[in-house]
Amino acid sequence: MPEIGKIYEANIIDTTTAGAGVARIDGAVVFADKCAAGDECILRITEAKKNYFLASCEQIVTPSRKRIVNRCPYYARCGGCSLRHVSYKYEGKIKEKTIREALEKADVHDYKLNHIVMPSDERYRNKATFHFSKCGEVGYYENGTHNIIPLADTPCAIVPSEFSDIARFCTNIFGNDSPDSMTLRISTTGKIMIAFDGKRINKSFLSCVEKITDVFPSVCGIFSREKSSGDYISIFGDKYIKNDVCGIKYIVSPNSFFQINYSGAEAIFSQIEKMAGKEPVYNIFDLFCGTGTIGIFLANQHPEAKVIGIEINEAAVENAKMNAALNLTENVSFKRGDASEYAKICGDDSPDLTVIDPPRAGCSKKTIGALLNVMPKRIIYVSCNPFTLARDMKKLEEGGYKLIEATPVNMFPRSEHVETVCLMHIRN
Ligand SMILES: C[S@@+](CC[C@H](N)C(=O)[O-])C[C@H]1O[C@@H](n2cnc3c(N)ncnc32)[C@H](O)[C@@H]1O
Repeated sequence: MPEIGKIYEANIIDTTTAGAGVARIDGAVVFADKCAAGDECILRITEAKKNYFLASCEQIVTPSRKRIVNRCPYYARCGGCSLRHVSYKYEGKIKEKTIREALEKADVHDYKLNHIVMPSDERYRNKATFHFSKCGEVGYYENGTHNIIPLADTPCAIVPSEFSDIARFCTNIFGNDSPDSMTLRISTTGKIMIAFDGKRINKSFLSCVEKITDVFPSVCGIFSREKSSGDYISIFGDKYIKNDVCGIKYIVSPNSFFQINYSGAEAIFSQIEKMAGKEPVYNIFDLFCGTGTIGIFLANQHPEAKVIGIEINEAAVENAKMNAALNLTENVSFKRGDASEYAKICGDDSPDLTVIDPPRAGCSKKTIGALLNVMPKRIIYVSCNPFTLARDMKKLEEGGYKLIEATPVNMFPRSEHVETVCLMHIRN
């Protein structure tokens, strides 16, 4: 067994999505932060866990050919990215492998794993939250803490540079009277919406808002989030931003979910389009439908179908209804409810196709139960977590489905996260 505090020479044999190199030392598995398969390095064991050890990398003796030079000054401390030290191509391989292994471990086999779709890794995020410190600094939280990494001159490489400019401008105008945080969202046409958290609406705040909109004309709406109710109070301009994804218009308000990477969202829509096929489909359900993105897209692709979206968040349902009206899409409707109420909402309708796009936790037992009760002919499962995806796939396969194909989409380049779009059929 390796000893805590002791130094070892090690060959790194694998890389995790979290950016750790995997080594074997004295028979034990060791994870070393920010290493890559092929590195020969000197590791110091820092912590013993139940089945593995953690190590820090003291020196890279021979660097892996998969490595690249990281140019982000925040990378060592920030929790946002985990794979900036390896080539983007290799990142794709790591993520494909993670999905393959998660499904294998869950005993899900004999399906086609398509190549990962890799949208650009530059400035892809359309949403970011910056935090303010008591002494007026602004930046992201340090990984695993609430310490702030102050934004320096170099902007964060995965968000629009204007986000960093606005955040820095805000520290200057708010000084020591800053909000707790600010969340910025940019539309597909470059309009920016800001929501401040933990700031009382008073004269000095309103004067700061005026300064922001004078200097940054792309800011089209500003909100303040009330501490007690969590409600967003509009204090300037538009109440939402407008997006155009795959030719469909969507409005998004500050409290509703929207995919954080527009190119990634297009890639997901295109996979859904392929998996849904060209044959007529008459009943489609869109569970966890958010602002109706997938439901409206499919309703437009399949004008012969009746599409129903189910979503728990009331504001998102309202947005979804507005989005349907905006696109003059009449064959889609949205209901507020828990996805587990799917069987009840279906009634006697037997859906040809059901799309599910749950949060990271995946589907609840009740939702899986509802799917197996209704038994739609085909399921398209959009997942942002390979491990809950694999768990749910296993249950769906046990209930009579077969995974046909899975396409990974690198929705969150440089981070540990990956999206997967899967097609399941009822087993013959
Ligand atoms: C990953 S998002 C998908 C949104 C949408 N498909 C899209 O692409 O914009 C998950 C959505 O599920 C909703 N949600 C979470 N738990 C739910 C539940 N139990 N029943 C229905 N919707 C739920 C969230 O509010 C969120 O909008």
